[in-house]
Amino acid sequence: MTPKDAQPTPLAQALGRIPCGLFLATTQGPDGPMGFIASFVQQMGFEPPTIAIAVGKDRDHLEAIRASGRFGLSLLDKPSSALMGRFFGKLPEGETPFDGQALHTTSANSTVFTDALAWFDCKLAGEHETGDHFVVFGVVEEAAQTHDGDPMVHLRADGLSY
Ligand SMILES: Cc1cc2nc3c(=O)[nH]c(=O)nc-3n(C[C@H](O)[C@H](O)[C@H](O)COP(=O)(O)O)c2cc1C
Repeated sequence: MTPKDAQPTPLAQALGRIPCGLFLATTQGPDGPMGFIASFVQQMGFEPPTIAIAVGKDRDHLEAIRASGRFGLSLLDKPSSALMGRFFGKLPEGETPFDGQALHTTSANSTVFTDALAWFDCKLAGEHETGDHFVVFGVVEEAAQTHDGDPMVHLRADGLSY
């Protein structure tokens, strides 16, 4: 990460111009659904339809994805982008980011957000370690676009942070 107040290097600036979507990545944890905001997400194949997501090595979600063998992705558009607020900062004691939200449980028991522009339920198909992330591959087994619209596009001044 570029130190605060420092000018991003040319490399960091260039990386930051790579467009990403904004997603809520979800998986079944030991105590119910868990999730995080994800932008390192991309389609990686047609047949089978494959998506890759990079998960920070220190995230509990990684173990949960491995244990459950699945992950869900909810693709955000402008109207649904407020859902990210559920995953930032502190919620009232005992509340989870999923409480009070419009959710769908897929036939394979993944939890996704139906207010999102589209959602995907993926079966874990492998992983690859990078320096600070694991790239997790999933085959999309079920998906839906919930309404018309365009996805959020996430660009960064500094490509060495999210
Ligand atoms: C815009 C944005 C994009 C993010 N993309 C990813 C991502 O692709 N992969 C990842 O592992 N974490 C990503 N994160 C980080 C996690 O969503 C989240 O911030 C992190 O889990 C916070 O947990 P912590 O405060 O406990 O570290 C992103 C965060 C933001 C704000």
